[in-house]
Amino acid sequence: GERIVGAPSILSADFAHLAEEVERTKAGGAELVHFDVMDNHFVPNLTIGPPVAASLVRATDLPVDVHLMMDNPDNLIPAFAEAGVASISVHQEAAVHLHRTLTRIQEAGCEAGIVLNPATPPETLEWALPAADFVLVMSVNPGFGGQSFIPETPEKIRRLREMTDKPIEVDGGITAETAPLVVEAGAQVLVAGSAVFKGEPAEEMRRILDAARSA
Ligand code: DX5
Ligand code: ZN
Repeated sequence: GERIVGAPSILSADFAHLAEEVERTKAGGAELVHFDVMDNHFVPNLTIGPPVAASLVRATDLPVDVHLMMDNPDNLIPAFAEAGVASISVHQEAAVHLHRTLTRIQEAGCEAGIVLNPATPPETLEWALPAADFVLVMSVNPGFGGQSFIPETPEKIRRLREMTDKPIEVDGGITAETAPLVVEAGAQVLVAGSAVFKGEPAEEMRRILDAARSA
């Protein structure tokens, strides 16, 4: 089958010990670090920004994947690119000039992703897909960790899979139980926050990847 990538979301990690937390997930097979940016505007929560991204990039050899849950994402693209992150994804619902924003991310030297909220149909991406490197499908409403997986997500991933061969990342409510469902539907990159950091991160990351790979 396709190569499955485990991407721990540090939203559920201990922010005072980020480097150690990421190393633990790496010991469990993590290959990407998912970095959630929230602005208390597009979503009702507030997290971290470019300075923390820069520190994290220096502290780990895993690539850092920035998920911008914010209005006016263009403003912060140069700072995140300067921080050395590998990829930046923006919400279709927040980017008024989505095509331009994706192009700016690529011109800054990063991979560009489009994020879809649970209520946004994949068909809205038809004319933006050529400008993107990957698509991030939200399987919960963005803003918080620890929410339950929305059961329609695999069908949505299947529909998107018919539209594109680009990598599909999934974010929200991913566990050893839900991971096989999204992999069978065509997803490659699995973001998991609470399911990884609820216990010993290496063990939990490994449990999710084993379940996903035997799907
Ligand atoms: C939610 C964030 C997610 C979050 C996922 O808005 O984008 O990355 O950390 O957390 P879990 O895996 O607990 O649903
Ligand atoms: Zn996220």
